[in-house]
Amino acid sequence: MATLDLQLGGSQTVPEDADDGVWLTCIECGETFAPFDDVRYTCDDCDGLLEVRYADSPTFDDFEGRGVWRYNAALPFEEGVTLPEGDTPLHRVPDLEEDIGVRNLRIKHEGMNPTGSFKDRGMTVGVRVAQAVGVDRLACASTGNTSAALSAYGARANLETLVLLPSGKVAAGKVAQASLHGARILEVDGNFDACLDIVQDLASRGEAYLLNSLNPFRLEGQKTIGFEILERFYEDEGRFPDRIVLPVGNAGNTAALYKAFRELVQSGALAPGDVPKLTGVQAEGAAPMVEAIENDLEDTKRWDDVETRATAIRIGNPVNAPKALPGIRNTGGTAVAVSDERITEAQRDLAEQGIGVEPASAASVAGLRKLRLSGEIDPGEDVVCLTTGHLLKDPEAAAEAGADPEPVPNDTDKVLKHLQGKRVSLGGDGLLGKVLGYVR
Ligand SMILES: Cc1ncc(COP(=O)(O)O)c(C=O)c1O
Ligand SMILES: [Zn+2]
Repeated sequence: MATLDLQLGGSQTVPEDADDGVWLTCIECGETFAPFDDVRYTCDDCDGLLEVRYADSPTFDDFEGRGVWRYNAALPFEEGVTLPEGDTPLHRVPDLEEDIGVRNLRIKHEGMNPTGSFKDRGMTVGVRVAQAVGVDRLACASTGNTSAALSAYGARANLETLVLLPSGKVAAGKVAQASLHGARILEVDGNFDACLDIVQDLASRGEAYLLNSLNPFRLEGQKTIGFEILERFYEDEGRFPDRIVLPVGNAGNTAALYKAFRELVQSGALAPGDVPKLTGVQAEGAAPMVEAIENDLEDTKRWDDVETRATAIRIGNPVNAPKALPGIRNTGGTAVAVSDERITEAQRDLAEQGIGVEPASAASVAGLRKLRLSGEIDPGEDVVCLTTGHLLKDPEAAAEAGADPEPVPNDTDKVLKHLQGKRVSLGGDGLLGKVLGYVR
């Protein structure tokens, strides 16, 4: 059993370089930095990841209003460039709950954000910080959703936006979003990790302000997923969920949720025993976090060849691993890898409940099912699965997982006759037979 180390770490004394009670701390060496004077993404001294710190930790009573900015007591600014974002549904799914076999199953559908993914929560804060720092070009590497969100928020803030995408590996809906919102789109002959290497180089040369989740302010916005889940679940059930299961790519959300919980523990608003177990799910073809958890590694090892239909989590070098691995371990959670077939099945399971998600999102439900089957998750648990992106992000994957349209003649009687034919199977291509079969 992991010890529940839920401290924020480093000194909580407000350093001289704090700005209105906000500063940056290196998670490795504890060095502190002013938050907005210079552009910096990692520690000057040791290159460690930076975390935003506040003089005061939030309590639930501090939260008022709606959406991400409801939680401004836990954010570096009162308000920001907003579309607006957050306040996403926490769906009940009784059929799926029974089928998977847990006491409570809820789906936190982040696909209901303005650009269709959780990234909007990070961008509303990140772009506000970009304005404070005074930059004129925003940039990110992306498996798609980050670029869609940054393009929209950049457009809204009237800032130039540059996005680097792995050529041929980004779902159509996401490229379309970046394109229409007016970003400059560079397609790199390499995977996401290669795109991130380049954009980090550009940022360190002062060519652009980096808004990947390496930027600690992005994660501040994403913390609000954790606050919302806790508040909503408590409203419904009078207790907090036992576990949150989420898809993992760069592990930004894992890090952000862990930070949200630690801040509430710090203020006394959340008892350490009430912190949900963070449970990360990766695709089998891109699972360095799972490898690190299973083998008790201090850090992840970079996977150079990654492949999965869930392109949003096709990531071999999760930059937030040093923040996220302790998050999984110190909350008593775990990590699991699932196959693309199981991901598609989970996408269909959710669709049957009326919840449309992109493949990466369905990984959370596939992971929960796997961990229930193996007995690692107890049937008595209250579980929230995070679904990170909307179905329409990846229309090709949705069409492949779903039913084929049936061509019919332009004649009512013939349409009726056709409808009398029997539908023989639901969904599935490849393994489960070519999409839908119909007997006519
Ligand atoms: C739909 C979707 N799910 C999951 C992830 C992974 O999130 P994280 O990098 O926070 O682990 C991404 C990131 O690109 C995403 O777009
Ligand atoms: Zn350091």
